[in-house]
Amino acid sequence: MPINEEMVVSYVSALRKVILKENGGETGRLRLNRLGLNINKEGDKMFRIVLGDITKETVDAIVNAANTSLLGGGGVDGAIHRAAGPELLAECRTIHGCKTGQAKITKGYRLPAKYVIHTPGPIWNGGTRDEERLLRNCYENCLRLAAENDCQSVAFPSISTGVYRFPLNRAAEIAIRTIEEYLSTHAEIEQVSMICFDGTTLSAYQNALSEWEANHV
Ligand code: APR
Repeated sequence: MPINEEMVVSYVSALRKVILKENGGETGRLRLNRLGLNINKEGDKMFRIVLGDITKETVDAIVNAANTSLLGGGGVDGAIHRAAGPELLAECRTIHGCKTGQAKITKGYRLPAKYVIHTPGPIWNGGTRDEERLLRNCYENCLRLAAENDCQSVAFPSISTGVYRFPLNRAAEIAIRTIEEYLSTHAEIEQVSMICFDGTTLSAYQNALSEWEANHV
């Protein structure tokens, strides 16, 4: 039977799980790299950075750059609520908000994604109010919550870089580092996507990933 791409991808991810399970941490990541199973190469489809609309993503969970009320808003929050339908807001009303940097999960309703993971990012105040740590917490807590709910594919927007005015390049560096470090020590999530809504955001995340890869070969 001819080997197709689907089979190769599932073989690579199974092999990656075994290696990370046996080694984990930085050792596991280095072994994956040495074996050419680097987890963020486009070919392995482990970490993709694309231009798009997150409400169209057919993944297990999409992340919503929400506010602490979790009752909807503009930007990607508004787009996700519009696409999911009124049931999303109804469920959000039952979970009584979320602290900045934390994450809460709901169903996806009319979205192609099974779940929505809501996380309020930090509002940029010149870097004087722990914004960098809070942004890192957003990515880490979303990945952890996705894994707890058996999600194998997760799509993020660029958290806090719109209305919340977090400097884009710095936010991209924090996002890439946090996602890469999480993926290198946890095998359960097979694919993470960064869905960029415009070209400037796309370049910022692509540059941040190239920078990361250059320093972590
Ligand atoms: N798909 C992917 N990304 C999107 C989409 C979409 N459909 N719509 C907007 N974005 C992008 C923006 O272009 C930006 O790059 O999401 C990123 C985050 O911008 P915001 O949505 O403004 O989120 P944020 O900066 O975290 O501010 C959150 O804005 O909408 C309100 O209720 C929300 O109060 C909260 C605040």
